[in-house]
Amino acid sequence: WPALAPDVEAILRLKRERNAVVLAHNYQAPEIFHTVADIVGDSLALAREAARVDADVIVLAGVHFMAETAKLLNPGKTVLMPDMAAGCSLADSITAADVRALRAKYPGVPVVTYVNTSAAVKAESDVCCTSGNAADVVRALGVPRVLMIPDEFLAQNVQKQVPEVELLTWAGHCEVHERFTPADIADVRESYPGITVIAHPECPPDVVEASDFSGSTAMMMNYVTEKRPSQVVLVTECSMADNIAVANPDIEFIKPCNLCPHMKRITLRNIREALETMTHEITVEEGLAERARLAVERMLAVKP
Ligand code: 13P
Ligand code: SF4
Repeated sequence: WPALAPDVEAILRLKRERNAVVLAHNYQAPEIFHTVADIVGDSLALAREAARVDADVIVLAGVHFMAETAKLLNPGKTVLMPDMAAGCSLADSITAADVRALRAKYPGVPVVTYVNTSAAVKAESDVCCTSGNAADVVRALGVPRVLMIPDEFLAQNVQKQVPEVELLTWAGHCEVHERFTPADIADVRESYPGITVIAHPECPPDVVEASDFSGSTAMMMNYVTEKRPSQVVLVTECSMADNIAVANPDIEFIKPCNLCPHMKRITLRNIREALETMTHEITVEEGLAERARLAVERMLAVKP
């Protein structure tokens, strides 16, 4: 990407000058993922790594809730978001008041909250989860009924892994994954007999059922690099296939995939600007942060 080289060089220099690291989600574009990112991963890995980071500044190449989680785990560090408008339809689907109303409706039922939520929602929760550890988090609670919010499809998919627990949920959806249908899977299987189909658990349950494997973005990547299918479709955000394809030229990645407009707001240019101007800084009010941090830390304690 020669046209991007000046931004990459500037970011590498600024990272040294500011003692900064770039944490990038697996959905970031390849020109970010493969050049300036110090740590790449799924939401769980980014939370774990954020808790361990040894730097003064963290730039989050991902969406707002990921930067907030990094700030919760690093209250003394500067956490920068290259574009504050990089949100998430799941995080927007529920408020702290909604969680309080759920608690009033289901007294005593613990609330397991997907990390794709605001710090204010996390603060009302007992424990967080990601798509990589949701079943483990539910099992660790050891109770018969759990509120798993706000992703309805994730809860329905996790329900199959924990049949002993009743999962109540919320009507939040990921705008990227809710668009996939079983017909998409049937079409791709008809066009490419023998293809391996891997779907993210934010997809509707009938899409996950029609797939060969489902897991978090990191689990999807591990599955592909270990099993090495000759043809595979990653039923998720498009950059996933692009990022794995760079290191695996022998594997053919077939569409469909969908773009996340929020993830795609992050560019090399605004990462560079974030480091140049030290904006946009994430702040979380300390009383709220303390409660939200507890929910994230309880999640990390389930399976460190
Ligand atoms: P994971 O990387 O945890 O699978 O999350 C996917 C996602 O949609 C994050 O926004
Ligand atoms: Fe949110 Fe879906 Fe985009 Fe992830 S892919 S940030 S869950 S809208």
